[in-house]
Amino acid sequence: PFTAVWAPDGRRVPVPAHLSLLAALRRAGVRVDSSCEAGVCGTCRLTVLDGEVDHRDAVSTEKERLGSMVACVSRAGSPEIVVGP
Ligand code: FES
Repeated sequence: PFTAVWAPDGRRVPVPAHLSLLAALRRAGVRVDSSCEAGVCGTCRLTVLDGEVDHRDAVSTEKERLGSMVACVSRAGSPEIVVGP
């Protein structure tokens, strides 16, 4: 489990182990587009402003991994992560 902070409004979203970041954000009312929901298309990519990422996708380049993550499969590698569109 970790906490995602939605940067545009500072909303704090708990992400339990059984939910993806994408699902948790949606449950909290944040709109995030998605397609494959399996870490292969990149549609759900979010900007990462702070925190560490545990990348679990198969689509991101090393460069993309420095400042973004895909919300459907990747998770935080720190207790808190700050993300935005
Ligand atoms: Fe395709 Fe997340 S929806 S990578």
